[in-house]
Amino acid sequence: VREIYLAGPEGRKGQLTTDLTALEDAARAVLAPAVSAFVAGGAGTGATGRANRDAFDRWRLLPRALRGVTRRDLTVDLLGRPLPAPVLLAPISAQSAVHPQGELATVRGAADAGLPFVLSSYSSHSLEEVAAAAGPGPRWFQLYWPSDDDLAASLVRRAEASGYTALVLTVDNPSVGYRPADLDHGYLPLIGGTGLANYTSDPVFRAALPPDAGPEAVVRHWARVNGNPSLTWDRLNQLREWTSLPLLVKGVLHPDDAHLAVANGADGVIVSNHGGRQLDGAVASLDCLPAVRAALGGAVPVLMDSGVRTGTDVVKALALGADAVLLGRPYLYGLALQGRAGVRHVLRCLLAELDVALTQLGCGSARSLGPELLAPAGPLG
Ligand code: FNR
Repeated sequence: VREIYLAGPEGRKGQLTTDLTALEDAARAVLAPAVSAFVAGGAGTGATGRANRDAFDRWRLLPRALRGVTRRDLTVDLLGRPLPAPVLLAPISAQSAVHPQGELATVRGAADAGLPFVLSSYSSHSLEEVAAAAGPGPRWFQLYWPSDDDLAASLVRRAEASGYTALVLTVDNPSVGYRPADLDHGYLPLIGGTGLANYTSDPVFRAALPPDAGPEAVVRHWARVNGNPSLTWDRLNQLREWTSLPLLVKGVLHPDDAHLAVANGADGVIVSNHGGRQLDGAVASLDCLPAVRAALGGAVPVLMDSGVRTGTDVVKALALGADAVLLGRPYLYGLALQGRAGVRHVLRCLLAELDVALTQLGCGSARSLGPELLAPAGPLG
């Protein structure tokens, strides 16, 4: 924050707002309407997207004074590795729709901050290209388990071979969400045109197509193998045969599902409702976090996403039991506006506000955030 303030008098005031909640409007001005609708849109009436924000707003922070917080420590350990802060970049598909460099710019912006980028199955650049752009930057791979197991195994093995250090299996997508804004603009051309690099570069996927297959045949074949509503928990151990990477299950809301994930071999869970994009009217992600944490106890990493917009949101999620959060749309707006520098800007602002919040709370470390620093909105009891 000092850095940001001091840049002003030195004439280096940034062009992007430091208010991460205002980035959506700024990005809308530079994005085509169909792309804006794809990024900002939610399922159905948008009730779950609003609930995600309301859940954060219902909690207030209860600071303590004079606690000697000259130094704050934002670092945490996750899956046996240190992270500079409890923040990852959520998997978001088809990023070339937003910026020509897509995921290459995102992973570089993430690497600038030392934070892991979770690459979507539906990326605009292949997982090998993104790995090369990341350099030593940390990266995880998100799998949508296709209905063809050979293809699933191939994607997972390629990710492990390319230095991705964890596998995230998204389970809240047995079908695509009912998203009116996407449906009205025609969603499939967007993903089909920009989000299939991992498939078109995959030997198993290509073997199923004639060598001269054009873009339409590619999209049709992808639509055939995409989505897998037949999946059941007992299939998780199949992933263990394909990879030794740690496995996190993303899209868990019910505490019994969190338990089932771990009982079937997952190393952690991500509490998420996909940023309100899948089931309209689903519970707010933050509201599920304490019950999931209680179901799993302290030993298993619990991450959360959906609705995180500010450094104080990160504080609330950690105080309610998360080990780390995933940031979704805000970094994509940074990408839309300024590519790698925009992603870096968003992360820098988020971490600056997190640092300020720890200081104001009288809390010296992100690891020691707990429910005693929270109070429900309204008079203290
Ligand atoms: C997503 N999300 C997502 N999740 C996933 O597992 N695989 C994916 O390919 C995508 N694609 C995707 C596209 C777009 C445009 C958005 C906005 C989101 C969900 C994402 O990982 C995350 O759960 C939410 O974005 C978190 O909510 P917020 O931070 O956007 O509110």
